[in-house]
Amino acid sequence: MKKENFAFHGTVDTTVVFLKLAIILLILIGNSIALIVSATISLLILLYEGKKYADKLAYVVFDEEYEDLLSNIREEVRGIRVENNDYSSTRIKIDNVLENYDIPMTFLETKVTSNQVIFYYGLGFTIVNNRKKFTKISQVENIKPEIELALGESIRLIPEKNKLGIAIINPEFKSLSFKEMVNEKNYKQIVKKYADGLPFCLGYDLNDNVVCGDATNFPHLLIAGETNSGKSNALQVFMTSMLMNKKVNELKLVLADFKLVELVAFKNSEHLIGNIAYEVDEFHAQLEYLLKVMQQRLEKMQKIGAKNIQEYNASSKEKLPFILFVIEELSSIMLIDDSKLKSELENKLSVLASKCRATGIHIVITTQKPNKKVITGLIKTNIPGRLALKVIADVDSQLIIGNSDATKLLGSGDALLNGKRLQVAFLDTGVQEEYIK
Ligand SMILES: Nc1ncnc2c1ncn2[C@@H]1O[C@H](COP(=O)(O)OP(=O)(O)O)[C@@H](O)[C@H]1O
Ligand SMILES: [Mg+2]
Repeated sequence: MKKENFAFHGTVDTTVVFLKLAIILLILIGNSIALIVSATISLLILLYEGKKYADKLAYVVFDEEYEDLLSNIREEVRGIRVENNDYSSTRIKIDNVLENYDIPMTFLETKVTSNQVIFYYGLGFTIVNNRKKFTKISQVENIKPEIELALGESIRLIPEKNKLGIAIINPEFKSLSFKEMVNEKNYKQIVKKYADGLPFCLGYDLNDNVVCGDATNFPHLLIAGETNSGKSNALQVFMTSMLMNKKVNELKLVLADFKLVELVAFKNSEHLIGNIAYEVDEFHAQLEYLLKVMQQRLEKMQKIGAKNIQEYNASSKEKLPFILFVIEELSSIMLIDDSKLKSELENKLSVLASKCRATGIHIVITTQKPNKKVITGLIKTNIPGRLALKVIADVDSQLIIGNSDATKLLGSGDALLNGKRLQVAFLDTGVQEEYIK
């Protein structure tokens, strides 16, 4: 903006000279023609110089600020706004804590994504005994509780090249709607790409690209996180996006819902095999049924030498549907009192999980109690896919994903899908019926 002032001054200076000239001519000649002539010349010069300086201004911006301008535009195209002034009170609080603990870091910029606000700092240095001592990220990690105390909310540290991001949940966070997600061009392309498998979409990554995948690659998924972290919503998004792309004869559902109300949207779905199981006995029956289906399918595939269901369907008249087996709240089974029955169920589930993949049976399990009693070694190894939502305890995060990253998630569908960060889209149950046949 400095340059703009400069351009304006130049033009005014010249104009003033000509106005003075007009006054002198007026005094000398004393007629109004001189005034009109001088005023016209001044006006022309004003227009000419204005254009000249406007050109110069564009040039100067190009020279000095073009790169910044360009990167801002790039960010905006990707759906990330770069803020300059907003959230400054939060930033000042962070600055104060850093200063109180003598951690030299320079604030760089604030980035606002759809679900979080990230304050980026450059890692600075102090001079100790004539030597530069650079800031370590561990110094900031050590005072994380102090920053959280000052802000009154949890933060997440994001180390990037030569800078450190301190993220809070965006107070203006608007959930990303499922409806919008499934209308994205990107979504349609990916679904097409995985048409032979089991395409699903869950939400958006940090660059606001749709995150999709093929469930046949997992092959089974564990959705874990504390109460209210967004597990049920994620499960609904997963199932609904999958059902949307498969006909009734291509995908079947076997559902167990120990929370009784979570899968009610699918109660009358034509994809459903049998009824939703609400009791342990009913679940047991489902397991036996699926083990039998798996066995039959394995024999059929063996007969014609097919390695998996896709190969079988390609070379046989009979088309076998995929089957999605959903267990909402695993702890209901793993924490039953009858230890003999418990281990029988655990064993059957593990056998199923270890062998059913090729036969087109895929398992999705949710739990809000990601501890060793629920996610036993047997289950852990046989259910390799992970959708981690926010958990509180470090040990729980370690158990689900082998590190503490799930404790750093912000809740409300902020998730890690096999290590990849994403924001799960929000499925309004009111619109869900449109998608479930
Ligand atoms: N992806 C999301 N986007 C926005 N809000 C969400 C999202 N997932 C969950 N929430 C919010 O959190 C609440 C709890 O979600 P829910 O899926 O029932 O959690 P859980 O099953 O882990 O207890 C929802 O009612 C909603 O308000
Ligand atoms: Mg739930």
